Amino acid sequence: MLSDIAKQKIQALKLKYPDARSAVMPSLYVAQEEYGWLPIEAITEVAAELNMTTTEVGSVASFYDMYHVKPVGKHVIEFCTDLPCALVGADRAFERLSEKLGLEDGQDTSADNTITLRHAPCLGGCDKVCVLLVDNAEQHESMTDEKIDALITKLRAKS
Ligand code: FES
Repeated sequence: MLSDIAKQKIQALKLKYPDARSAVMPSLYVAQEEYGWLPIEAITEVAAELNMTTTEVGSVASFYDMYHVKPVGKHVIEFCTDLPCALVGADRAFERLSEKLGLEDGQDTSADNTITLRHAPCLGGCDKVCVLLVDNAEQHESMTDEKIDALITKLRAKS
C-alpha cells in the first residue's frame, strides 16, 4: 500500500498540471520508488489518486521501459546495445556482463537479486561506448570491461 507520504507527493504532482491525469508518469515513479517495481496494486492505487482507470495507468506503465512491471533487482542497469554501440562492441560487453552475473535462459536478474541487466535503446552517448544507465539516474559512459566490473562490485557493496 502506498504510504501517506507517497500519496501526498502524488497530490502535489497533480497540482503542477492543468489536467491531473498528466501527472501519471511522475506518479508512477513515486509508486515505483516505494514498491521497488509496479505490481498491479501500485498501478491501481496510482489510478485511484488520479481518477483514472487501472487499465489507463497500466498501459502507460507497460509502454515505457523505465517502469518495472515485474520485480527487479536492487539495481537496474540499462545497457545500450542499439546499433551504433553494438557495432563497436557493446553487444560483446553486454554478453560478457550477462555471463558474469550468471544470467541464463532469458533471466535478467542475478540470483542474489542485486542486479537487473537490460538492453536499452540509444542513451544519447553514441560516441562514448559502452554506455549504461544505473537506476534510471546515473549514466556511465566510455565503460571498459574493467570499469564495468568495478561498477558491479560497487553496486553489490551498496546493496
Ligand atoms: Fe548507444 Fe546511442 S546507440 S548511446
